[in-house]
Amino acid sequence: MLEAMPLGTRRASWWDTLRLQLFVSLPVVLAGLVAPTRWYLAWRCRHDAGRATMRFLASLREKYGCELLWTWFPLRRTLLVLAPEAIEAVLASKDNAGDPAIKKRALSRFAPGSVIVSSGGEWEERRPFNEAVLDFGTLHRHHEAFGAVVAREVGQVVAGELRFPQFQALGQRISQQVILGALRPDMNAQLACLLARSNLLLRDRKRFAALYRELEGALSEPGAECLVADAAARDAPAAVPVAPQIAFWMFVLKDAIELHVPRTLALIAAHPEVQRRARDEVRGKAALTAKAVSALPYLDACLREQLRLWTPVPLLLRRATTTFDLREGVRVAREQQILVHAGFYHRDPRVFAQADRFAPDAAMGTFPATYFFSAHRQGCAGRSLVTFVLTATLAMLLARFRFELQGPAIDTARIAYLYDHFALTLRAVGD
Ligand code: HEM
Repeated sequence: MLEAMPLGTRRASWWDTLRLQLFVSLPVVLAGLVAPTRWYLAWRCRHDAGRATMRFLASLREKYGCELLWTWFPLRRTLLVLAPEAIEAVLASKDNAGDPAIKKRALSRFAPGSVIVSSGGEWEERRPFNEAVLDFGTLHRHHEAFGAVVAREVGQVVAGELRFPQFQALGQRISQQVILGALRPDMNAQLACLLARSNLLLRDRKRFAALYRELEGALSEPGAECLVADAAARDAPAAVPVAPQIAFWMFVLKDAIELHVPRTLALIAAHPEVQRRARDEVRGKAALTAKAVSALPYLDACLREQLRLWTPVPLLLRRATTTFDLREGVRVAREQQILVHAGFYHRDPRVFAQADRFAPDAAMGTFPATYFFSAHRQGCAGRSLVTFVLTATLAMLLARFRFELQGPAIDTARIAYLYDHFALTLRAVGD
């Protein structure tokens, strides 16, 4: 399926570089560098604006006849990488870091010192700390406790209409119990306000101080069987400020649940045969124990397909930490940026046979590499944990209810590039 493209690089014209700002940079900023901007998502969905970005990137590839283009992306000269094998090389390379200025400035407003905005020696110390507490690559040591949290929360969902606020509450409640071991409703507004300000590269000092006071308090008296307890028990090196790692986890875990649970259910509900199979798989288990949750290949494929179709982190931006050759003849100088458009790759018909369809069956077979968790050394450190929490939540919901999608509608023949989950209404029907 994949036709080979020339391996060299070309330089995008100033006009195409300008268009790249319009189709790629500007939408990323308006969509919210940290927290999603509701009105803009609604507007983009109404106008199918994601399609224009995809068409533009495909047209660049066509026009220049290559998949490595020198251009500009805030705030530096940037190599745009569309070639699959070069994506692998970028993400596997030790010569770049995931802390380019724009990302660092935005995320540091609420989680300064977190691993996601680190490089060099600091990253080397912060990454193992994150991997250890999040139990990267394996079932989390507290999987039974986390499964029980999810079961308790899903048990409180009642049949009828479900909208975004209900999923948001689910995200807040589950993430706080998994991370802090207790419910802390006071933190919801603090975090929401800090994230909204971070979009503008600003910090709300009062709320920042209040959140970090709470986190330090939680670290000194941690609940049982939660991430904070494990973080507190570790002798963190001086380069690892612990509270910011936790602040980052709180943001991403809450965000993951409130976004990926409703979106995956919407896709499942829009495909009746998929819903039947997913529910049969879930209800085929004698009990939804934590071990049973991690052995649901079909539901797992549904989740992965949702992440592929609506890639939550569509841009993977890297900063070259040294001058290096990405491959022969492709030199990237220190401080230049490399931009991998994972969102474009995941919808590329040259890579995926059913690029615009929800295809869990295909995802269970031999499938091209996917990058919704990024990959390799700086790939998502919370991948195993979040996959477990999301699958558990979905499984427990599907065990209790059949879902009907009331809106926004999904065109199953060509899934739109974006979906407005803030406007979503699902109807949960008990058996
Ligand atoms: C489905 C939900 C999630 C997705 C799709 C996701 C995706 C990603 C991606 C794409 C990156 C790389 C970002 C970049 O290079 O710019 C990343 C990094 C990271 N993620 Fe996640 N993530 C998710 C949830 C989580 C959760 C819940 C946690 C922790 C509780 C977490 C912890 C991390 C950490 C610590 C990093 C930084 C790794 C590093 O820089 O070495 N993620 N994630």
